[in-house]
Amino acid sequence: MKPIPYLKQEGKQTTLMVDNAPFLILGGELHNSSGSDLNYMEEHVWPGLRKLGGNCYLTPVYWECMEPERGKYDFTLVDGVIAQARREGVRLVLLWFGLWKNGGSSYTPAWVKTNSDYFYMCGMDGRMVESVSPFCEDAVKADQEAFSRLMEHLRDTDEERTVIMVQVENETGIWGHPRDYCKAADRLFYQEIPGEMAELYGTCGTWEEAFGLNACDYFMAWGLSRAVGRIAEAGKKIYGLPLFMNCVAIGLPLRAGQVPGGGPLPRVHKIWRRFAPAIDLYGPDLYSPFYKEACDDFAAANALIIPETAQDKDTASKALYTVAAYHTVCFSPFGIDGMMMPISENDLLAQTNSDLGGSPAGAGERLAKAYRILHVLWEEIREAQKNGRIYAFLQQNEPRAEFLLKDYVIDVSFGDGGISGHLGQPGHRKEGAPIGGGFIIRKEEDRFLVCGISCNVQVKPRYAGREHVFILDKRELLCTTNGLVLGRILNGDERNYMAIGEEPSIQEIAFYHRF
Ligand code: DGJ
Repeated sequence: MKPIPYLKQEGKQTTLMVDNAPFLILGGELHNSSGSDLNYMEEHVWPGLRKLGGNCYLTPVYWECMEPERGKYDFTLVDGVIAQARREGVRLVLLWFGLWKNGGSSYTPAWVKTNSDYFYMCGMDGRMVESVSPFCEDAVKADQEAFSRLMEHLRDTDEERTVIMVQVENETGIWGHPRDYCKAADRLFYQEIPGEMAELYGTCGTWEEAFGLNACDYFMAWGLSRAVGRIAEAGKKIYGLPLFMNCVAIGLPLRAGQVPGGGPLPRVHKIWRRFAPAIDLYGPDLYSPFYKEACDDFAAANALIIPETAQDKDTASKALYTVAAYHTVCFSPFGIDGMMMPISENDLLAQTNSDLGGSPAGAGERLAKAYRILHVLWEEIREAQKNGRIYAFLQQNEPRAEFLLKDYVIDVSFGDGGISGHLGQPGHRKEGAPIGGGFIIRKEEDRFLVCGISCNVQVKPRYAGREHVFILDKRELLCTTNGLVLGRILNGDERNYMAIGEEPSIQEIAFYHRF
């Protein structure tokens, strides 16, 4: 039997281990409803994913389908999707759509929905919110039981370890109200804070006395983390796969009401870590223009896992940047099936939410190329990260990026304007072109590998004393199924002004010294 996937910690580097070997998830998350019909998966999902060539896909598992009647479990969809993934030679991360999905409870089975003993949260206005209250013990127990059965089923049937990780719930938190105001919540909110919270923050009193303006957020984080913590722990005891949670990360600075209160954002990770220790990682759903800032924020807390990000013309640039800049465990654009096989025009989904719509032509192919490169270069990237020899860049609004090394300067101008420095302004990009992104690895003292999209990377020596440094050679590298192979020798115009266009590409450049 194959070993159970796990997270390996070496110093600050966390690595997902699958079949006892390091594994970087380069894939995508399926649309919410794709996994509810195995025929749909065959016709509309796998053909597109084959073109992408990812190694793992994030696929929902629905409580309402798995336990349609209390205590009667149906694993047809779970087993079906696992069998399909196995046939395709890829792994899965299952997303447990249980009590909470995007702050609501639409994936609970009908027997939960129609029984008001499983009571809902209440808003400030006294109106019910369609979301089970985390203070409803019976509901948490019911989810705990169902999640445990799922993990038990995986343990007993998935000997191949096709499923390598599980996300517990989806984007928990309360939207549109500072906290849950139902009776059970109110009772707790006006009491003294629990001993563990007092100890954690070195404070006391009621929630408002202890936490002032943060009272509602901390209260929700406490309530939700206790609930999800119990669900996660029960499942993990049965089958110890790595567990994680996703959360809305709209951007920084976060404004009140922009994100669901109490969800596992970095500002309340301390609470989540204390009350939900079975959750290994927290990752951002990153649709924000503040992409780098949000990554920094989450990467400071744990290895970077991006379960969702926008699928658009820039996704490939972000993939190159993310894997090079952080200890990344997973990069997964949302709605990947739509990215690879555009949703038909008359599909309502495509028209109602821009995150759901298809991406511009070519974006999927570009991502496929970036994934191929990352698969080939990942070991080298990890090695370079350990030795501090890697420089990653991603364009947000800036026209260029610069890295000052002791003896070299790396000057990255983004877009097509940087092509020669005289053809246009750095930062200029033609309409619809992807943003600049990529990385540089210092392979040897005087040899650099450059990989990117929409950029012109100039590695220039910093002259010292009488020494002069010139380009020895510049070479194009091509990514094939057999790894990297040498392409053109880049000399003449291509040596002096070799911009990297809209498709990911790799060059290697070496220098020589003269006195
Ligand atoms: C974030 C959620 O986590 C996903 O399941 C999906 O609903 C996307 N939003 C759609 O934008």
